[in-house]
Amino acid sequence: MTDTTELDLGNIPTNVAIIMDGNGRWAQNRGLPRPVGHKHGVESVQDIVRAAAKLGVKILTLYAFSTENWNRPPLEVQALMGLLKTFLQNELKTITDNNVCLKCLGQKERLPNEVRQVLDNAIAQTADNNGLILNLALSYGGRNEIVRAVQQIAAECRQGLIKPEEIDDALVSAHLDTAGQPDPDLLIRTGGESRLSNFLLWQLSYAEIYITDTLWPDFRKNDFISALIDFQNRQRRFGKTSKQVTES
Ligand code: FPP
Repeated sequence: MTDTTELDLGNIPTNVAIIMDGNGRWAQNRGLPRPVGHKHGVESVQDIVRAAAKLGVKILTLYAFSTENWNRPPLEVQALMGLLKTFLQNELKTITDNNVCLKCLGQKERLPNEVRQVLDNAIAQTADNNGLILNLALSYGGRNEIVRAVQQIAAECRQGLIKPEEIDDALVSAHLDTAGQPDPDLLIRTGGESRLSNFLLWQLSYAEIYITDTLWPDFRKNDFISALIDFQNRQRRFGKTSKQVTES
């Protein structure tokens, strides 16, 4: 068990992204239907959003529903959409009171109307908040995000607004759903699997990756702090040598 007092509050990662995996297994381990795991997962979302805001994380990006998740059994998709709607309705006041600014990554237009309405409302109500940015990745896929960006850049080239040779990293970043935000410093994946699952494929290039066997519904503030402490003990080299980094 990590000693949470080891956390250095002067070195908190700016942007933390999380793949919230393990809800289904958490429920199955208890002989319960998978949606019950998602319901308990919402409690972890509430806890981690609060903890991130309090610890001074600037951006928290949560992978809540992927483009591939549409292929899950219809009842599970329905349950997830219902939980999302209830979360957005019930948490709006807490989110607002905590100065959190809500944003959505992904194909919002694929969400059911009633979810989109509460989501749009929550985004509008929190747009002027200047505390934690909470990115919810909903109907999100990293490849789809890059394809949409490429389509937009190609259209701008065709209109003569930019020249192909002007396309660089910054221009591509500016056409992604995360435009204007720095890349994640830390990716946390719960549930023990070691893969990216089509999450933030462009943005995670130099993120430190932390994988824990803890299933998402069991992941709480102290587990989050353990991940931050692990991050603080890494040396980020961005392609340089260890010597170059220590001497700079
Ligand atoms: C992955 O676990 C989790 C999801 C596909 C959904 C995550 C959703 C929530 C945490 C609740 C709703 C979110 C918000 C923001 C209110 P899994 O089902 O793949 O688990 P498994 O790998 O054990 O099967």
